[in-house]
Amino acid sequence: MLLLVISCLTSLIGSAAAAGGRAGYSHVECGLRPSFESFLETGKRIGTGRSVQLGEFPWHVSIQSHRKHICGGTIISALWILTAAHCFAKELPPDLTVVVGGINLSVPLEEHKPDSLILHENFNTTSMANDIALILLSSPIEFSKEKIPICLPFMCDIHTWQHCWAAGWENTSADAVPASHVLQKARVKLISREQCLKQIPQLRENVMCAEVEEGEGSKCQVDSGGPLVCSYWNTMKWFQVGIISEEKPNHKILTSVYSYLGWIENETAIRGKPFLIEGVDNGAHPRFIRSRAGAQLVFLEHCFLLFISLVTIRFLERRFLNT
Ligand SMILES: *[C@@H]1O[C@H](CO)[C@@H](O)[C@H](O)[C@H]1NC(C)=O
Ligand SMILES: *[C@@H]1O[C@H](CO)[C@@H](O)[C@H](O)[C@H]1NC(C)=O
Ligand SMILES: *[C@@H]1O[C@H](CO)[C@@H](O)[C@H](O)[C@H]1NC(C)=O
Ligand SMILES: *[C@@H]1O[C@H](CO)[C@@H](O)[C@H](O)[C@H]1NC(C)=O
Repeated sequence: MLLLVISCLTSLIGSAAAAGGRAGYSHVECGLRPSFESFLETGKRIGTGRSVQLGEFPWHVSIQSHRKHICGGTIISALWILTAAHCFAKELPPDLTVVVGGINLSVPLEEHKPDSLILHENFNTTSMANDIALILLSSPIEFSKEKIPICLPFMCDIHTWQHCWAAGWENTSADAVPASHVLQKARVKLISREQCLKQIPQLRENVMCAEVEEGEGSKCQVDSGGPLVCSYWNTMKWFQVGIISEEKPNHKILTSVYSYLGWIENETAIRGKPFLIEGVDNGAHPRFIRSRAGAQLVFLEHCFLLFISLVTIRFLERRFLNT
């Protein structure tokens, strides 16, 4: 009996350590931030202040034209960047690069050239409907503590998502500290469609609304095309619930990523680089987990641990009753 308890305990600790301390990034899981959260250090840790710390939003990228920041975006896999279509709508910006793995745009950072840019085929510049785009990189991102893909959402219910944040480089140069182009963050709250319709009667389909939380300063700019990321329950994973599409005076209108999961899967598959969340998208790695499956895996892990505990308790009960 003692042996069983010990083996259960070791397997529990072992799985926690394995999940918390994945050192190699060859098969990094989406939405986990080793510098900020681990199984041993749970809780949604976000540093204080407005400036983002290195590794705090490791999925956030700067999309640049002639080395000037034009929009935010997110790493969703080693080869795919998710952003908004309106960033490229008027004309295709020349000399596009995707800058990853940093928070301070004044220092040289890792740059990736796009291989192709995919705007949603039904993006409407007038109504801003279907404001979503993908960038296929010509070289894969090698993941590290500063470069981690974000998970895509597995549900759209706004009450599930908590601890939501947006971030941006936009207009930071106009702030008190000139020449310090450091990513800024703001806590935001998703609001219901009904509530949003009261303010914006012509709200289009497949969007969500969010507002910057009290005390965060309404003038805080977030990156157009950048993500709204949230977490839920007591998991450590972060999910991209929306893409910043439009800024209204008190609201941010977001493209609901959940509504476009099928589009993302189709478009990435057509290009021969199907969207897979783990590692390099070339099929070389044995452990592929897609984002939705990844979230389910967390649940499965919890269920499995619960099952082990129950079996142990039953076993102990029987031993005590028998003796
Ligand atoms: C950003 O980088 C520039 C150039 O190296 C530096 O002067 C500035 O202090 C940095 N800002 C922060 C907040 O680290
Ligand atoms: C784009 O949106 C505008 C305004 O809602 C609408 O009048 C127009 O028909 C739309 N265009 C297309 C091609 O759907
Ligand atoms: C940035 O600031 C300039 C001038 O201060 C303003 O015209 C522009 O609209 C701002 N950009 C955004 C995205 O708010
Ligand atoms: C994705 O492709 C499938 C098969 O071609 C098609 O049935 C489906 O409508 C497509 N979904 C989207 C969102 O484009």
